[in-house]
Parts: sequence; structure tokens; C-alpha cells
Amino acid sequence: MPDDAVTMEKIVSLCKRRGFVFQSSEIYGGLASTYDYGHYGVLLKSNVKAEWWRSVVQERDDTVALDAAILMHPRTWEASGHLEGFTDPLVQCLGKCKRRWREDHLREDTPEGELKCPECGGDLSEPRNFNLMFETHMGPVQDEGSQVFLRPETAQGIFVNFKNVMQFARKRPPFGIAQVGKAFRNEITPGNFVFRTREFEQMEIEFFVPPDDAVEWHGRWMEDRMRWYTDLGMRSDHLQLRKHGEDELSHYSSATSDIEYLFPMGWSELEGIANRGDFDLTQHAKFSREKLEYVDPGSGERFVPHVIEPSAGADRGTLAFMVDAYDEEEIEGRERVVLRFHPRLAPVKVAVLPLMNKEGQPEKAREVYTDLRKRMPAEFDTGGSIGKRYRRQDEIGTPWGVTVDHQTMEDDTVTLRDRDSLDQSRIAIADLGEELERRLAAPWTSPKTG
Ligand code: GAP
Repeated sequence: MPDDAVTMEKIVSLCKRRGFVFQSSEIYGGLASTYDYGHYGVLLKSNVKAEWWRSVVQERDDTVALDAAILMHPRTWEASGHLEGFTDPLVQCLGKCKRRWREDHLREDTPEGELKCPECGGDLSEPRNFNLMFETHMGPVQDEGSQVFLRPETAQGIFVNFKNVMQFARKRPPFGIAQVGKAFRNEITPGNFVFRTREFEQMEIEFFVPPDDAVEWHGRWMEDRMRWYTDLGMRSDHLQLRKHGEDELSHYSSATSDIEYLFPMGWSELEGIANRGDFDLTQHAKFSREKLEYVDPGSGERFVPHVIEPSAGADRGTLAFMVDAYDEEEIEGRERVVLRFHPRLAPVKVAVLPLMNKEGQPEKAREVYTDLRKRMPAEFDTGGSIGKRYRRQDEIGTPWGVTVDHQTMEDDTVTLRDRDSLDQSRIAIADLGEELERRLAAPWTSPKTG
């Protein structure tokens, strides 16, 4: 069962209240299912992406980075099969409301028998395949020859650069190319806040392996990617791996497993880990007439590598980390909302607060803050009662608070408060930076575990 205390409404409301995520174009009434990230949202999502880069590139020696363009040659989408096959079955209500639905989603609730419109009970049209790619035109003339697509996945930018990267990075299979970037899909039914939107960010790896090793690497990547989420504090009983049935597999995949998270709306996909075989390189070789294969310089052996693809959503991941961190508790008769982020994900690591706005405390606190922010993202806040300032920091998930008080002015020590245990300890200002860096590097388990 999902966490009772966490509803999507509470997450949306906290995101708006504290400036994580806003409805896009709000002053014009908003653009449906499109969102803008505010200050704390940007910092949080950047930390999610930075942790991904750290684990898939920095801490490995078999993966390199790429940043390909969003607009690609239109032949790409013929070769990849997206032009033909990247479709969802669309049905429209023929009754009162005329709403459009995904037939496969409706079938999940009504596996057999006639489907009806969930909104008004009206009859539904026959399904038709609706292509999810957004199209636009390049240059001033809008004809068929100028038609281009916004990429629906970052993956194809990697495949078309396979040869470049293999040559210039001097890599041989097994090796991977990692990329983070925007992707666009004209989803029929976006929803659940930033879970399913029409513009989103992906974090994808295409990992090229000798064909005989593909099954083994698929298993390894499933383990590695599950561990990434739990190492960042996500509760393991809220994560599961689910293998796709034959009827669910994408056109390119011979086996896929999803990492799913227990969101407020139930178990839903966070990341897909697919065995794409040699489908993509073979298709691009055929359409581009380039040889996309590996030739062993020693033995002369040649083969088309198979591809293992761990493909994660940056927005979906960020949402899952928020849901997992969200907590409410009563402290001395007062309700507190707190985001219990892993410290490495928290948008702000430390808040420096003068207890009172006098006796030189604000000036001293500013000095401490100016010093700390060279080491980690920090905030300085003088506005409102100390309780109110702490509640604000709890709601944005700041793991540590430093209070400058009367005693600080006498002995250069401060109080260090822990977000989760609420423990307060006294520490010399001279030791503060090092102590916080030590805590930031330490292993961390969510206090919500168990
Ligand atoms: N290259 C493979 C691929 O794109 P996918 O399962 O369609 O696979 C991978 O997408 C991940 O991208 C998903 O697990 C999800 O996290 C994210 N994603 C896909 N569609 C999304 C959408 N409409 N809104 C937000 N995230 C999305």
C-alpha cells in the first residue's frame, strides 16, 4: 500500500508553496500538463542528475558522456521505427464529453467486454494508432521536405554517434554512452503532476556489449540501477523490478524490466532497462549505409554490438524522491511537514539562522554563512521567528541548521540542529565546515525505513 500520509495533492501543494514546481504559463491560465521548475526544484533535479552522472560515468571507467541535439535528421525516425511504430491506441468518446483516452489503459480496468467512456459512460470510437512524436519545420518553408521531429527519446542521439564515440573515446565493447536531455511526446493522457508530461528529461545509457554477453549485462545493469535508488535513500520496500510480458515489449526490445516505485497512485514505472539487441545499430547501418560495428584490431573479428539500455526519467525520479522523503509529524503539539531527503539530494545543505535580530547576531551569522557557502549550498535567513524559519527549512528538506545565539558572541560556538532527529549539539565555528562535509559524505538511511 502507498504511504497513507503522502498524497499527490500534498506534494503538488508543497511544490507550489515552497517554489519547487509551478504550473507553466500560469498567468495565462496554464498550459495543460506542463510544468516549470522554481529555485528549489532546479536544485533538487540538478542533484538527481548529478548523482546519476556520478554513478554512471565518474565512478566507472567503461562509460562516456554525450550531449546530442534535440533535432535530428528525419531519417533517424524512419530507421528507429518511431515514424511507423511509436504510437498509442487512441479512442474518442462518441457520447457527451468527447474526451480522448488510451485504449490500452482502459483495458487494464476492463480486460474483457465493451469499453465505455470513464467520464460520461458514452460509447467509444474504434481505436486508431496515434503517433506520439511532435513535428515541426526547419527553416522558413513549411513543406514535407522541411519536416523535423522533436526527439521522443534521447537514445537515438547516442546510436547515431556510436561510430564517433568509439573512435574518439578509444572504447571497445563492453562500453556505454550516457546522456541527459529533454524528450518530447504528445501523450494522449498526461497526468499525475510531473509523472507523465509532454516535455520531460531523460537520463539514458546505451551500453554496447558483445552479443553473447548481453543477458549477463542486462542482469548487472538491473542490479546497479536498483542500488542507485536505494543508495540515495529510497526505501527498498517501495521499489520493485517488474519484467515486461511479451505483449508489452517495445518494437526494439527482446527483454525489458521496469524499476517501479510505489507512488500515491500505485506501483508505476520509474526506469526501464531493456535488452535492445542489435536492432538500432543494424537499422541505422541500413538507412545511413555506414558500417556500425566493432572490428577487433588484433583478431580482425567483427560484430554488431548488442545494446543494454537503462533509461530513467529525471522528472519522474525527482518526483519519486520527493514522495519518498515527504513526512508529517507532531512535535510538541505542532504539526511539522518535512522532506527527509538524502543530504546529497537536498537542494540546500545548511541554513544559518541568527536566533535574534540584535547583539551582532545577524552579522555573525552572515559571516558563518559566507564561509560555509564556499563548501556547499547554504542559506541565510533572518525573517520571522526561529520556529517559523526552521519549519521553512524542514519543508525544503535542509538537513542541517546552524543557530547563532548569545553564546556564539562569547565563545564562537553555534548550535547544530539535525533535521531528522532534531538533535542539537554545540560546535565551534572553526570545526563546522569539516563536520558538515563529513556528514555529507557519510552513508545515509531514510528515517522512514521500517
Ligand atoms: N529509450 C527508451 C525509452 O525512452 P521509455 O520507457 O519510453 O523508454 C524511459 O522511457 C523513461 O523516461 C521512463 O521510465 C520514464 O521515467 C521517462 N518517461 C517516459 N515518458 C515520460 C513522460 N511522458 N513524462 C515523464 N517521464 C517520462
